[in-house]
Amino acid sequence: MSRDHTILTPKVLEKISHLREHFPVEALTIPLLHAIQDEHGYVSREAISESAAHLGLPLAKVLKVATFYTIFNQEPKGKLHLQVCTNIACWLNGANDLVAHLEQRLGIKAGETTTDGKFSLSRVECLAACGTAPAMQVNDTYVENLSKAKLDDLIDKWSKSECCGICDGDGDGGGEEEKA
Ligand code: FES
Repeated sequence: MSRDHTILTPKVLEKISHLREHFPVEALTIPLLHAIQDEHGYVSREAISESAAHLGLPLAKVLKVATFYTIFNQEPKGKLHLQVCTNIACWLNGANDLVAHLEQRLGIKAGETTTDGKFSLSRVECLAACGTAPAMQVNDTYVENLSKAKLDDLIDKWSKSECCGICDGDGDGGGEEEKA
């Protein structure tokens, strides 16, 4: 069992409990990391260590999984995490210009978070939305067919409102748009 119940809370462990009887323990790694990120917003080194201890797996094995997939945040992110795909289809459709536009609008560089904690901006690899490139993921929601005008409208809307319509005000990604 975990020694740190502030990371592996009953709510986190409940999310993987139904998997235990069906899958080998290694297969619980990704669901557990997802559950931790859902609950805490990111997967810290401490969380990785606690996960390894809880699953009875070598730390290096869990660390490798947690750091391989960019979907797992290694540090706290803003309330809205704008993850812009800059892979080939999006790149060909102007993704780099869109990232530069967002950097200018938000006053941060990709990889950073605004000082008010509202926005984080990241470049990510293919989101499997190539047919509607350029695309980005905002928390758990996809926004596709991006343009500078569309981004401006969204940033204006999200900056004005306490509720962004994507995170439901609590950062859990429970908004009304299509989930990733
Ligand atoms: S290249 Fe951007 S979604 Fe596939």
